Amino acid sequence: MSAPPVARPAAESAKEAPSPAMRSGPAPRPGGDPLIRLFHVSKSYAAGQFSLRDVSVEIKKGELVFLTGPSGAGKTTLMKLLFAAERPSEGQILVLGRNVARVGERGIPQLRRRVGVVFQDFKLIASRTVEENVAVTLEVIGVPPREARAKVFAMLRRVGLQHRRHHRPAALSGGEQQRVALARALVNEPAILLADEPTGNLDAALTVEIMDLIAAAASRGTTVLVASHDAALVRRYARRVLKLDGGRLVEDLPGGAPA
Ligand SMILES: Nc1ncnc2c1ncn2[C@@H]1O[C@H](COP(=O)(O)OP(=O)(O)OP(=O)(O)O)[C@@H](O)[C@H]1O
Ligand SMILES: [Mg+2]
Repeated sequence: MSAPPVARPAAESAKEAPSPAMRSGPAPRPGGDPLIRLFHVSKSYAAGQFSLRDVSVEIKKGELVFLTGPSGAGKTTLMKLLFAAERPSEGQILVLGRNVARVGERGIPQLRRRVGVVFQDFKLIASRTVEENVAVTLEVIGVPPREARAKVFAMLRRVGLQHRRHHRPAALSGGEQQRVALARALVNEPAILLADEPTGNLDAALTVEIMDLIAAAASRGTTVLVASHDAALVRRYARRVLKLDGGRLVEDLPGGAPA
């Protein structure tokens, strides 16, 4: 197996300007260089047991891809590798041209600045208001407060929660909390959105609401990977489906019509 090419940062940033949210005109079509590439990736937490086994796959800019498979198949493990929460045991992973298997202490914040993450259980900060929860993403990367406030407000409006901005998470419904989590993941206009069972705790109507917001992010040019058990949801959006089973990638279906 030959080593993958590693894009130089200058070339990478030139290719991606302007950011998806700033671009006007028709939605970009998926295509071009893959933003995510896995080469023979395996992950083992314990000797002889593989959570992922020899997975190779490429995901291009603007794609909305569902990651399916039974419980324990390796979906969360794959997502953790993509934002460097875990390291692969074998293989190489390129995210935005960086080899995340080797990314150092300083590289991790740079990577996470461009990769938004949403979890099934929201992971909001209970003691902070809605707008403070969303602002955290911008605070940690040093966006000036005035600029941050404007971005947070615009993002909350996009997810329909501007009127709830001074509430704390406990005062919100599950769907509203997940919209806050999505706003937090998207407020910095990430190149990639990783959503791990983002609708797992929501009813059918709220699921569609959240998925429509996620699909809208993809149509603005964000590359989106959604882990989901929900076969009806996957069918409804008719996009590319990657299926894991026992840590192996067992299916890669191209999908059909756009949502
Ligand atoms: N930190 C860990 N230490 C040891 N084993 C782990 C760890 N994290 C995950 N695993 C194991 O790796 C396998 C894949 O787990 P993973 O969480 O990726 O599955 P999943 O597809 O996300 O499942 P679910 O649909 O239930 O969320 C499982 O067998 C799990 O027990
Ligand atoms: Mg999981």
